Amino acid sequence: MATQTDDTRKTNADTAMVSIRNVYKIFGNDLDEALELARGGTAKDAIQEQTGAVLGLSNVNIDIQRGQIFVVMGLSGCGKSTLVRCINRLIEPTAGEVWIDGREVTALDADGLRDMRRNEIAMVFQHFGLMPHLNVIENVAWPLQLANVERKERLERAANSLALVGLGDWHSSMPQQLSGGMKQRVGLARGLALDTPVLLMDEPFSALDPVIRRDLQDELMQLQQSVHKTIAFITHDLNEAVRVGDRIAIMRDGAVVQEGTPTEVVLSPNSDFVREFTQDIRMHAMVTAGSIMDQPISELPGAMTASDAVTAMETNNLVHGCVVDEQRRFLGATYLSEVLRESRRGDGRIDAMELYHEDRVQDDTVLDDLVPIGLKAQHPIAVIDADGLLVGEIPLDRLAAVMVSDEAAAAAAADNVEA
Ligand SMILES: Nc1ncnc2c1ncn2[C@@H]1O[C@H](COP(=O)(O)OP(=O)(O)O)[C@@H](O)[C@H]1O
Ligand SMILES: [Mg+2]
Repeated sequence: MATQTDDTRKTNADTAMVSIRNVYKIFGNDLDEALELARGGTAKDAIQEQTGAVLGLSNVNIDIQRGQIFVVMGLSGCGKSTLVRCINRLIEPTAGEVWIDGREVTALDADGLRDMRRNEIAMVFQHFGLMPHLNVIENVAWPLQLANVERKERLERAANSLALVGLGDWHSSMPQQLSGGMKQRVGLARGLALDTPVLLMDEPFSALDPVIRRDLQDELMQLQQSVHKTIAFITHDLNEAVRVGDRIAIMRDGAVVQEGTPTEVVLSPNSDFVREFTQDIRMHAMVTAGSIMDQPISELPGAMTASDAVTAMETNNLVHGCVVDEQRRFLGATYLSEVLRESRRGDGRIDAMELYHEDRVQDDTVLDDLVPIGLKAQHPIAVIDADGLLVGEIPLDRLAAVMVSDEAAAAAAADNVEA
């Protein structure tokens, strides 16, 4: 597994969209004494006993790359909210630096900070933070009003972000008429309204029922494919962290105790504390299509004629094939019965035939999301990468084995770490 050398850490920090460097936060008086104790490694409890001050953050270092969803997780009181609020200085760090897109936030004056909050960072809160006397679209437009965007543009942009979260028909509803899930969609739309590159989300889904929460997690991930925000996402739920996070940092008593990809953290916990946290994580959230796929066995060049495809499929004993273009981009699936029919009818190229797209997933699709596809599929599932290239196929018996056995799932997830 990759360990971070000082050199890679430096490069990461230089290219990071959000960089948190040696940040401490101490609540209370006697900041100097408490800070000195914290720097010397004195624990949170002892610092509080000796000075009365509360150690909120202890030497936190985090780099969030552009377009990443970075999850901060840990038990209640470990400092998650404090950390996320230090990024936009809703809470002033006691020591250390915060950088966003190459600018030091911690060095900005009041004007600079206001500018930064308008143009660079938006925030979504756990308890929605909607204003009860404003309707949905006015709530979403509120940050734009604060930024002095004129009314017409404000409402247009708010309508756009409401459409993004599926609330295009709810402009004039009042917050109290909405369910919890819908309120948080409004909260999310408001977070998107300013169109900032950075989004801070402090336990945005924690107040919601599990089913609604899952829907919103899905939607966030889907949305992220088109908006490409850099997101700091706070949660106390490891299953949620693993599901939405590109990277995860686990905090305890104000300090980050482990950081890595979800698979690294779950499969290689670096302490008993993290192990305890991760032991009941559902393996299904860790296994990806890429980790259980085989090499593609039924690839058919789109330029082939139908009769050549019949020969190729019969030779290889295939009833189903993945049609690709010259770059190996997946164009869709076809079936022996269909190429047979086409070979008799006009014998055209197979990429000119009607192709099928149901049984296709991206390589980072997790097992949880593969299951419903696998249940319907009759043939191996095609796996494509982010560029749409065909990279593998999942035989249905493999999928079934991983679905029913935690051991098989763990083995597949472990493969993932090495990949
Ligand atoms: N304004 C404050 N004054 C004193 N202590 C605070 C204040 N805000 C937070 N804390 C303390 O800092 C620690 C971290 O709090 P917080 O960041 O809210 O944790 P989390 O979000 O992980 O639940 C806790 O011990 C909390 O009691
Ligand atoms: Mg909190």
